Order: sequence, then C-alpha cells, then structure tokens
Amino acid sequence: MTSSIYIGLMSGTSMDAIDCALVDFSDRKPYQLDFINTEIPHDLREKMLRLCEDHDSQIPLLGETDVELARQLASSVEHILDLNGLKPSQIAAIGSHGQTIRHQPQQDTSATPFTLQIGDPNTIAELTGITTVSDFRRRDLAAGGQGAPIVPAFHREIFSTAEQNRIIVNIGGMSNITLLGKIGTISGYDTGPGNVLMDIWIQEHQGHPYDKGGKWAESGKIDDVLLELMLEEPYFGLPSPKSTGRELFNKRWLEGKLAEVKQQPSPQDIQATLLALTVQTISKAILNEWQEGEVIVCGGGASNHFLMKSLNNALPEFEIMPSSALGVMEDSMEAVAFAWLAWQTMMQRPVDFTQITGSAHPVIAGGIYYGGKS
Ligand SMILES: Nc1ncnc2c1ncn2[C@@H]1O[C@H](COP(=O)(O)OP(=O)(O)O)[C@@H](O)[C@H]1O
Ligand SMILES: [Mg+2]
Repeated sequence: MTSSIYIGLMSGTSMDAIDCALVDFSDRKPYQLDFINTEIPHDLREKMLRLCEDHDSQIPLLGETDVELARQLASSVEHILDLNGLKPSQIAAIGSHGQTIRHQPQQDTSATPFTLQIGDPNTIAELTGITTVSDFRRRDLAAGGQGAPIVPAFHREIFSTAEQNRIIVNIGGMSNITLLGKIGTISGYDTGPGNVLMDIWIQEHQGHPYDKGGKWAESGKIDDVLLELMLEEPYFGLPSPKSTGRELFNKRWLEGKLAEVKQQPSPQDIQATLLALTVQTISKAILNEWQEGEVIVCGGGASNHFLMKSLNNALPEFEIMPSSALGVMEDSMEAVAFAWLAWQTMMQRPVDFTQITGSAHPVIAGGIYYGGKS
C-alpha cells in the first residue's frame, strides 16, 4: 500500500529554526503525527543572512550554503523518523520549502522577476532516501504570479466555511493574511513585517533573539511620529497581489526611518512602535475587507502575548483565536502546508493560486527529486 505520510520542512524569514512536521493525509485532512524544531547552526544562519542582505554575495557562498542547509534539513528528517520509529520507505514524500534568499517577484517592472529558495533537494533525497518535492514557488512565478504567498491555498483547503468570513493571520518574520470569504472567495498577501524588525531591534539592544511575550515592547510607549512615518512606506498602500521579505523590511529600512525622526525615542519605545506597526498593518488590511469574522492566528507571533492583546484591541468586532483551536498548531502551520503541497505535487494535482498570487492558471507546484538508489 502506498504511504499517506508526508513530511513538511520549513524555515522562514526569521531563520529561528527548521520546522519539521510529520503528517498523515489518509483521511484527506492533515493529521499531525509529530512536529519538531531543529536549531540552525550559528555559522549557517550567518551565511544565509549574508545571502539575504549582502548585494555582492558570491556564487560559491550561494552554492555551498545551498548544500549545507540541505544537510541540516535532511538531519531534521532523520531525527523525526527516529523519534517516531519510522523508516524512509514509510514516507510518501518530503515537501521542503527551503530558505528564501531573494524574492523579486514584481511582474510589471523592467527587472526580470525571480524568486530563489535554497536547500538543495538532491542532497535531501540522497541523504534521506525519501522522494523530495521542492522549489514550490517558481512555477507560479513562471505563470505570471508573485510566487507568494502560497500557503493560503492550504488555508482554503482546511479552513474554508460557509458560516463566516475567516482570516488566517500568519505572523512569522513577515506577516501574511489569507481572507476566506463565506461565499467562497479567497485572497491572500503579505501585509508587511511580522516579527522581523522587533527581532532585529531586541537583538541589537538586549542581545535576546526575540522579545519573549512582547514584554519589552509592553514596557515602552508607542511613538506616534515614528509610527506614522513607517506607515508611509509605499508597500503598505500597494494593492494585492503583493509579497515582500527581508529585501525591503530589514535593518537598513529601520535605520532609515529612525534617521528621519528628529527626537530619537528610547529603545523600548521603538520596540513598542514596531509592535504597533505589525498590529496596525495587519488590522488595517483586515478592516479594509470586512467588519466582522473570525481571525485565526498562527506563526511565532501567536506566542507573543502582548502582540495578541494589541491585535484583539485593534479588532474588537472579530473573534480572535489561535490556529490550534481549529486543529493545526500555531508553530507547525507552514511545515504542515508544505507536506500538503508535496502531496498535491505527487498526485499531479494543480493548485489554484490565481486569486492569491495573480498567476494566469493553476499550476502543479514544485519539482520532484526521487529518493532511493537507482
Ligand atoms: N514566546 C514568544 N514571544 C514573542 N515572540 C515569539 C515567541 N515565540 C516565537 N516568537 C517570534 O516568532 C518568530 C518565529 O516565528 P516563525 O513563525 O517561526 O517565523 P518564520 O516563518 O519567519 O520562521 C521568532 O523570531 C520570534 O520573533
Ligand atoms: Mg520559523
């Protein structure tokens, strides 16, 4: 009998960890068997950051990091198999998103659009012996889409309901929303920064990887001048489809905005303002569309209590809940989504991203790298 167990691998903009989900699709709906986080070694993370932010990056660095990350991804898979007493032959396929190191999707400018994820699927398939599906974004881009966000297609599959409008908010390094209308409509786009700027700021000023529970932000006061200035960023006013990443919202962007304010707010006030920026850009995007509904939150930001409290205050007419209330853990949503996308690819099922990314037609997303020795 062919297996219905898939593994989803994800490492997002935050580069905080490799997320690895073991998922059974025998019942069509995903049943999460296990989920683990694996640390990304410091050196590897530094290299990936350099590739994201350094515009003169070297081709050897790109090539080496591609393989080094793949080795880490493969060891994450081996770990989850060990923990669950499973053999590679019991896994139908791995869906590996890889690490985005450049995303330049604009289809309407003079530059040629492209998006680039690394984490060589050949290496993953060779080391694990498991068929690996990867490179999920480029077919959509080739079909005229943004290549992102693509997880909303998974959200539609498992969260659509005719009873109410639902919004899935994923607060990772960037934030993206999926708007699932009760009449069957779907749209989804990146609203802008999620945790990435708060992470950069607290790393620089407190040496912590992130602001646990949003405590530091909570101790500060929102600086309205800085907030207004940041909200003037043209990206926020662009119509969808749109997607963004570290290319725009990075340390340089933050330093540029800070340089424009006459009186420097205190570090904690800046953190409070960055949190408010995330909350406002998400809540405005939702209110632009609907006045009531259910908001389902996932991603690391769902663990930031102060961020959740602020989002609740900004959306009083909405019922806000963590995604675990609907059966998918906050932390594993994206990894589970890539397990699902791998399943679609293996079944040769086109996925319809057209209303989300603007592509011309549904595509079979991802390339297949067969496991086993031939
Ligand atoms: N307990 C917490 N309190 C505040 N922020 C948190 C907490 N846990 C995770 N985060 C935030 O979530 C981020 C990771 O989110 P994740 O969804 O994995 O993003 P990505 O998809 O970009 O990797 C961390 O970098 C951190 O900013
Ligand atoms: Mg992560």
